[in-house]
Amino acid sequence: MHEPVLFVAPGFRLLRGLLAVVVAGSLLAGCSSSFDATRDAESTAAQARWHLSVDAIGKPITETYLSAWKIEVAPDGPGLPNGSGDVATGGRIFAAKCAACHGAKGEGLIGDQLIGGAGTLASATPKRTVGSYWPYATTLFDYIRRAMPYNAPQSLSADEVYALSAWILNRNGIVPDDAHLDAHSLAAIRMPNRDGFVPDPRPGTL
Ligand code: HEC
Repeated sequence: MHEPVLFVAPGFRLLRGLLAVVVAGSLLAGCSSSFDATRDAESTAAQARWHLSVDAIGKPITETYLSAWKIEVAPDGPGLPNGSGDVATGGRIFAAKCAACHGAKGEGLIGDQLIGGAGTLASATPKRTVGSYWPYATTLFDYIRRAMPYNAPQSLSADEVYALSAWILNRNGIVPDDAHLDAHSLAAIRMPNRDGFVPDPRPGTL
């Protein structure tokens, strides 16, 4: 007999086991007509699930599928897309798409505080925000583009993300009111806590 793909065998056995329970249960209940219907429905559903799992495991991922996730921006800028945005535009987008969770001034509500906290890192109550803590401005772009708004990730255009980054950095006192950010100017920003991290070479020795 031709064996199915070996590494899915445990799941297959489990489904067969579940089927056996359904079969036994229906037989014991002595209702054979509804048993037939239940068995057919169960076995069809089980087979569909099994085929799905077999199809999913070991199938090479396509470049098209992967490309949606290959949007990382390196700390020094590679990966930043074309586009640009200014502080005022960012403020308008923030009010419409971010303030509900992060507060009108980025002070934090159900979403993190994004603005403030400068100078608190060495205190007893450090406030780790984008402004006070994050070492690279490029990470702000990457994070917003990838994950925000929380309820609609990857829905923002590159221009919108540049504008939002400009507004958040401006309110943190890192870029001026007339800042207009693009791939070049964003990567050139030096964040206040840039030197506040130490390398951790694990595995290895300090
Ligand atoms: C529905 C609520 C919600 C909305 C809307 C939302 N966020 Fe968030 N945001 C969150 C939550 C929750 C987190 C924390 C996520 C986590 O830690 O996994 C977060 C985290 C962040 C962070 C990381 C903060 C940190 O210090 O780790 C940034 C930056 C951010 N959001 C920016 C934005 C921007 C810009 C928008 C608007 C485009 C936005 N968010 C809209 C809920 C929201």
